[in-house]
Amino acid sequence: MTLKVAMIGSGAIGSRVAELLDAGAAPGVELTGVVPHGDAGTGFSFEDALDTADVVVECAGVGSVAEFGPRVVSAGKDLLVTSIGALCDASLRKALLDDGPGRTLLTTGALGGLDAITAACAGGTIHRITVESRKLPAALIQPWMDGGTKDRLLTASHPVELLRGGPAELIKAFPKSTNVVSALALAGGDWGVVEAVLIADPAARKTSHHVTAETSLGTFDIRVTNEASPNNPASSALVPHAVVRGLKTLANASGSFI
Ligand SMILES: NC(=O)c1ccc[n+]([C@@H]2O[C@H](COP(=O)([O-])OP(=O)(O)OC[C@H]3O[C@@H](n4cnc5c(N)ncnc54)[C@H](O)[C@@H]3O)[C@@H](O)[C@H]2O)c1
Repeated sequence: MTLKVAMIGSGAIGSRVAELLDAGAAPGVELTGVVPHGDAGTGFSFEDALDTADVVVECAGVGSVAEFGPRVVSAGKDLLVTSIGALCDASLRKALLDDGPGRTLLTTGALGGLDAITAACAGGTIHRITVESRKLPAALIQPWMDGGTKDRLLTASHPVELLRGGPAELIKAFPKSTNVVSALALAGGDWGVVEAVLIADPAARKTSHHVTAETSLGTFDIRVTNEASPNNPASSALVPHAVVRGLKTLANASGSFI
């Protein structure tokens, strides 16, 4: 049986997912359409997505998860989320994870090692998770920054610590760049267990995440250095492939989790 997929968002991640699906990268998965942003009419609406798809894939940002997500799951469709930071909001989290009848699925996105953390969470205790993320300063400029802050960031000659805190603080200030922090909190089953630091590093040619998870079943030291997306230097080239891999697993249950 074919798994029908619609997408919200056709930026760096969404357009690559669409390309991969159209090229047959996930046998048994068919793209029914992409919901455009605002007035960019393509003749495919959110209602069409609900009518045609088994799974709606969000690749449009944290705001779009709140805008569309509850309507997807309440219509009995599955929602595959890339903007995982949206789940920092407790009422949205409940609507998406608990209320159904559709399921909310989370991509592994730009990170590795989430499988070990979820296994440790299921069978043991997560003591502490730390994550240090480094990105090029230009990829971390935000609309709320004043001119002086932007200039200091863009002309910095050494690493600048931008923010230290938990998932909610990070996603509020850097919504496109800190979804991995929320992914770690969900994998660890505890929103209070993750301590994150975001660093603007002029020497960082690639985005990197260094995760240390201390658990009763082991300590996991995970370093991921991501190639940038060719279409958006602030986004990781790995993410669309993580989304497609997830869809492939849904469509063709292989019995393997690797
Ligand atoms: N889980 C992870 O590891 C991870 C990693 C990177 C990015 N992300 C998330 O993925 C999102 C998309 O990343 P990207 O690099 O493709 O961003 P992007 O800015 O290149 O593309 C986002 C696209 O979504 C569209 N969009 C925004 N709001 C919309 C709406 N309401 N309806 C329809 N379309 C809408 C925009 O027009 C744009 O085309 C990011 O905002 C981030 O939250 C997650």
